[in-house]
Amino acid sequence: MELIYRPRRLRSRENLRKMVRETRLDEASLVYPMFVMDGDNKVEAIEAMPGQFRYTVDTYIDKLKEVSSWGVNAVMLFGIPATKDETASQAYAENGVVQRSLRAGKQECPEMYFITDVCLCEYMSHGHCGVICEDRILNDESVKLIAQTALSHAQAGADMVAPSDMMDGRVLAIRKALDEKGFIDVPIMAYSAKYASGFYGPFREAAGSAPTFGDRRSYQMDYHNGKEGIREIMLDIEEGADIVMVKPAMSYLDIIANVRDMVDVPLAAYSVSGEYAMVKAAGARGWIDEERIIAEMAVSAYRAGANIYITYFAKEIAEMISNGEIG
Ligand code: PBG
Repeated sequence: MELIYRPRRLRSRENLRKMVRETRLDEASLVYPMFVMDGDNKVEAIEAMPGQFRYTVDTYIDKLKEVSSWGVNAVMLFGIPATKDETASQAYAENGVVQRSLRAGKQECPEMYFITDVCLCEYMSHGHCGVICEDRILNDESVKLIAQTALSHAQAGADMVAPSDMMDGRVLAIRKALDEKGFIDVPIMAYSAKYASGFYGPFREAAGSAPTFGDRRSYQMDYHNGKEGIREIMLDIEEGADIVMVKPAMSYLDIIANVRDMVDVPLAAYSVSGEYAMVKAAGARGWIDEERIIAEMAVSAYRAGANIYITYFAKEIAEMISNGEIG
């Protein structure tokens, strides 16, 4: 055959295939989510997320050192308080579980970069991400508490705050609260295009944050909508978000790609608990090759345009990057 173009020419050897890769990964862009709870000297397994655990502040310090040994130097903290109420008071308590984790973590593991998830759901007796009145989730009242929570994280040493509540106007309120107290250098990573998703199921078991009534569809986005995701991203950038996020990752690659085309701020993708649980479940049965699936999921998020990947598989991905399987 007389062919001018033979695409297979560039696939003939591993060296060459690696040379012409379009997507490169780096463990510096990985963020590992961690759950910290009140109490002492405990590590609890999360049933729907085999291999993931809830730590008390002391055991989390040991884990942080392990995370750092993977070559992963950023974590995202989620707090699980001993008590919940109708004002989420433990979310912004000076001695709240995240605040204590930050102070201990900064001291014991100073090379780590600490990002905090800023939300009220884990701290509310009803499990919603905001203040409720009858069966409504009040926006502006919630924003006040969310800004207060972000500020208290910064005061305890957070390097970056990441609001995940999806209330309108929270990025601007957080920016103002931080700036007023001198935290002008603490960046905001906004969960901007966060969809109301069944993929968060295992997380709600992990964090004990399932709503006791209704669902999150009056604040998280409808997954039929792609353009609205762009609109949310634009609004958060206008309000001062330094980094924007699309969440979940795997079924939302179109959103990631569209956002990447529209804006030039760093973009994070969150590969959520349900993505993790599915891979672990099928992997445990031998139905899929877990490692290969983890690799494809991660590479696809970066290929779509993400610069930062938040994932429970941070260890596996860092390993694959360092042994040259991906990246
Ligand atoms: C808190 C929050 C959730 C997740 C991150 N922050 C749960 C939710 O919105 O219900 C999900 C993370 C995951 O599933 O891994 N609002």
